[in-house]
Amino acid sequence: MLRILSGIKPSGTLHIGNYLGMIRPMAESQERGQLFCFIANLHSLTTLFDGPRMARNSVDALIDMMALGIDPRRSVFWLQSDVPEVAELTWYLNNVTPVGLLERCHAYKAAQAKGIPANHGLFSYPVLMAADILLYQSDVVPVGKDQKQHVEVARDIAEKFNSAYGEVFTLPEPEIAEDIAVIPGVDGQKMSKSYGNTVEIFGEEKAVRKRIMSIVTDPTPVEAPKDPDKSVIYSIYKLFADEGRASAMAERFRAGGYGYGEAKKELFEAVWGYFEPFRRHRKELSDNLDYVNDVRKLGADKAREVASATIKRVREVVGVI
Ligand code: ADP
Ligand code: TRP
Repeated sequence: MLRILSGIKPSGTLHIGNYLGMIRPMAESQERGQLFCFIANLHSLTTLFDGPRMARNSVDALIDMMALGIDPRRSVFWLQSDVPEVAELTWYLNNVTPVGLLERCHAYKAAQAKGIPANHGLFSYPVLMAADILLYQSDVVPVGKDQKQHVEVARDIAEKFNSAYGEVFTLPEPEIAEDIAVIPGVDGQKMSKSYGNTVEIFGEEKAVRKRIMSIVTDPTPVEAPKDPDKSVIYSIYKLFADEGRASAMAERFRAGGYGYGEAKKELFEAVWGYFEPFRRHRKELSDNLDYVNDVRKLGADKAREVASATIKRVREVVGVI
């Protein structure tokens, strides 16, 4: 069966761009193969230096992903650091990874360009990511455009290792969903934590409403006809509402006499309604942390079964006895 691997950093609060761009496709991929999905807490350590917050974010991420549709019975779902073999594999991979390859990676290059002093963790981030991918012998890795380079680096590293030691690793393929749009934030730029323009998935009702009502719009008067495709409101609405409702909103925009305020209220109702079942599920999970812990442990056991087979083979071929 096709093995699909995906990792998500525990960021603290998820926004609807994360959901549409990554989490929903991940949940849907459980239909077409075996999903290996983990919370990449070790990757977050490159930029987060607050232990208690790190720990809290990790538990929140486990709960959020389960609430949003990752099914731990069908998929292998775990916390990255629960499988320490990944750190060991990173070391073996370091030794077949050319420094030049990492110097070309954009996360490091961006830090350099901004004059942010980069730590070695950030520099070797792609090697840890390669270890994530190769440890589980993944066939495909669905990622956003921003992560494509990292999957290609993982593939390069696998090729280098295999040519030095024999065919140990499956060569992973990045899978970029071209049809997944970049979701705009309330200011019209790409929705991103770092721009402070997000709509949170699990925010308080009042805060989410306020956020949606703050979407920037142009000064076209209420009476005037408007182009729905130029509106952030409509472009988010159509991703949550069914086709009938989406085309009804588009019609009202074109007809005129339909103000942005009214459209925002409808958008809020659609988003709030869409996440209602997920909020309920999340509440159940938060009230039942023993269950969440059991899932975490079971996931780590399943992931470790695969990881230890790979690491055993790697140790053999590199001569670590
Ligand atoms: P952020 O930009 O808020 O820091 P991350 O970089 O942590 O978000 O993104 C986590 C995942 O969510 C990535 O796979 C990314 O492709 C997806 N994602 C983030 N923002 C958007 C967006 N605005 N539209 C579509 N997908 C997004
Ligand atoms: N670097 C990825 C991100 O920022 C998260 C990640 C870590 C990942 N390891 C991975 C994604 C392995 C796919 C496969 O989104």
